[in-house]
Amino acid sequence: METKRDTFSGKLGFVFAAAGSAVGLGNLWRFPYLAAKYGGGIFILVYLILAVTLGFTLMITEIAIGRKTGLSAAGAFQKLDKRFGFVGALGCVVPFIITPYYCVIGGWVVKYLVTFITGQVGQAAADSYFGDFIAKPAEPVIWFAIYVILTAAVVIIGVQKGIEKASTILMPILVVLILVICGFCVTRPGAMEGVKYYLLPDFSAFSATTILAAMGQLFYSMSLAMGIMITYGSYMKKDTDLRGSVRQIELFDTLVAFLAGLMIVPSVFVFSGGSEEALNKGPSLMFVTLPKVFESMKLGGIIGAAFFILVLFAALTSSISLLETNVSMVCDKLHWSRKKATVIVAVYILVLGAIVSLGFGPLDFVKILGLGLLDFFDFLSNSVLMPIVALLTCICIGYFVKPKAICDEVEINKPFKEKKFYIFMLKYAAPVCLVLILIFAVSEAMGWIKV
Ligand code: PFF
Repeated sequence: METKRDTFSGKLGFVFAAAGSAVGLGNLWRFPYLAAKYGGGIFILVYLILAVTLGFTLMITEIAIGRKTGLSAAGAFQKLDKRFGFVGALGCVVPFIITPYYCVIGGWVVKYLVTFITGQVGQAAADSYFGDFIAKPAEPVIWFAIYVILTAAVVIIGVQKGIEKASTILMPILVVLILVICGFCVTRPGAMEGVKYYLLPDFSAFSATTILAAMGQLFYSMSLAMGIMITYGSYMKKDTDLRGSVRQIELFDTLVAFLAGLMIVPSVFVFSGGSEEALNKGPSLMFVTLPKVFESMKLGGIIGAAFFILVLFAALTSSISLLETNVSMVCDKLHWSRKKATVIVAVYILVLGAIVSLGFGPLDFVKILGLGLLDFFDFLSNSVLMPIVALLTCICIGYFVKPKAICDEVEINKPFKEKKFYIFMLKYAAPVCLVLILIFAVSEAMGWIKV
């Protein structure tokens, strides 16, 4: 961390900054394709239950740890209990895994934005456009590099205030735009089928994988278990309502994800008849299906361009918070200047990200545990490392530091209504869930169980 410790202006500043980090590609790109793949309504239901229980517990814990210690993750655990210092370090590894592949997808967004701005809506809507694009050796890497440079430039200049301000204006616009596009999508002939699939839980589609996928998504979407919320908590003023802020961040984050799914999943039904194959498209869903929606709209070119500008902005505020975490870690450990650290971390991201990007083209024969490179890094961070960090956080606070420390911090200015429930979640329910998830994730990856 930098030597001087800024604080957010107040509750709203905090909520928007944290929401800027939380609302990103995870909401707009990842949530819809997971919901499509894992049975629609049942996935949403599981996700919502997890968000208000597990997500709430973990986010309160992380933000309170940050505010109580006034330190970012690496130092915060050390200060709370020396034996748990390694948890902070482990949490800091996660953004180093996520940032490169996050920026690869950021590059795809830039490419689509340019495609729409230059009026090539028809091409973008063609079936093979996306597949052909990511399989190219050089082009996706160039867009990815542009995206990394954009992110790094902001981190070097440190225009956090500008970003914060912009997110207070652009995030609400994003919501309005999603609502408009949603309205259009769900009123297309044939879309109702998709709306039903998305909203009505089909309990026969429920499996342990649904929980695993929803839980991984929860960590990812709320920027949990990687030190970000601890760092942000350390910038939070003592008189800001902690519990209320967490509720608002969660609500905003979940709402954007929900709407993004409501926009994309019914579109799959309109344009591909809701076939299993189309629903299982995974990562490419946003880039394949949405352009078709835009093409069929009157002002599709302009709306598409506006949409991808906002996706880009949502992605940038998130990747900036990711890079910021990496950089502050390196500055802390190696005492480099901010500029030097940013440049060197950016070079690392460029190298690893380029390899991930090539994983869709020349390197597509490279499979780790049967997964392509991007999927592998996604799996490693979301299904393995983040549950481990979250589990250790629960054990550290629940049994060593004791939940009282967190409750006291929350209660500094407002009553902690769910205190009993929180303590139960932290000490018992969350650790059990996390252990099950870990066992399941590893078993699945090793091929011990089939889903
Ligand atoms: N929460 C972001 C998203 O949903 O896109 C991604 C992310 C940002 C994850 C920052 C982690 C993080 F620290």
